Amino acid sequence: MSALAQTRERDGNGWQNPSHRGAGYIGSHTYLALKQAGYEVVILDNFGNAQADVPDRLAQLTNAPVTCITGDVRNGALLDQVFADHDIVAVVHFAALKSVGDSMKMPLTYLESNLGGLLTLLAAMERAGCRRLVFSSSATVYGLPDQTPTPETAPRQAMNPYGKSKILGEEVLEHLVATDPSWAFGILRYFNPAGAHGSGLLGENPKDTPSNLMPFVAKVALGELPLVQVFGNDYPTPDGTGVRDYIHVEDLAHGHVLSLSALIADGKSHLVNLGTGQGHSVLEIIAAYSDACGQDLPFEIAPRRPGDVPVYCAETEKAKELLGFSTRKSLADMCQSSWTWVQNAATR
Ligand code: UFG
Repeated sequence: MSALAQTRERDGNGWQNPSHRGAGYIGSHTYLALKQAGYEVVILDNFGNAQADVPDRLAQLTNAPVTCITGDVRNGALLDQVFADHDIVAVVHFAALKSVGDSMKMPLTYLESNLGGLLTLLAAMERAGCRRLVFSSSATVYGLPDQTPTPETAPRQAMNPYGKSKILGEEVLEHLVATDPSWAFGILRYFNPAGAHGSGLLGENPKDTPSNLMPFVAKVALGELPLVQVFGNDYPTPDGTGVRDYIHVEDLAHGHVLSLSALIADGKSHLVNLGTGQGHSVLEIIAAYSDACGQDLPFEIAPRRPGDVPVYCAETEKAKELLGFSTRKSLADMCQSSWTWVQNAATR
């Protein structure tokens, strides 16, 4: 699990000083995007699911030192110290556990980590007088949506403890801002993040066998796993396999910059989907990755995975309207950048 970090605009306006986390997959890409946008950032990460050399790679990519504190977002005393040491005006909070399957086995661990982490962070922010937060939510809050593409107005429905932890997180933030309007939150519902940084130096590198499709396919392409199991081909989708809205992690990172900048500029809360609006099936992903790596990747049809839904696809108008967000990268970009990254990671 990773945590938070902090930011200041380079122009020296101390009040413009947001905070975000991370050395993890999305956090590290967001760090770069924030730096490119002119923010100073402090990372807090417990390196539970991030590699120790990510800060070095971020330093290499930005040609600047990286401020990274190793610690846990559930440590309130540590957070107080971070807020005391740095002039933080906002936080981007990624730190969470994210496996649906694990959450079924360890529901309390998930609630304690995801909800407990958020509450500890909010309390520290309150003590520090910092009331701007971007929150990592997920399409999982839609449960089994009856409408695709799915708009933000669709009802929330928890299918598992992971989903419940994200719904509760959103509700806490909504409740807080309704009670005290000096808070402002950017709630970002990610669809399926995929791909890696164009430099080949950053990407997803799960410590265990991946449960998500794209990193699993990548390991098959590397020859580390024998074949892809396609979980079900009898869904009500064009080829019968599950459809998801895959979004390039660099586009997703850009969404965080827009959200943070909007919170700082106008102090108004927003809740948006971050996706492309376009769905791709499991078979399409295997075919696109096969093109990227230059070999036909082996797969077999397996039974449905319990808890999976047929289709997740984002309605994207609201993010465009409120934040000016749109995606730039294609599925081919996601597969190509992932392939470059995993080959680099394998030789490091
Ligand atoms: N799939 C396979 N084989 C695999 C892995 C996945 O066929 O080995 C299929 C799944 O059945 C699904 C699709 O590929 O149809 C995508 O599965 P992922 O595990 O990559 O992603 P999910 O959509 O299940 O979940 C991800 C995140 C969640 C988040 C959700 C939002 O893991 O945290 O996206 O869309 F909530």
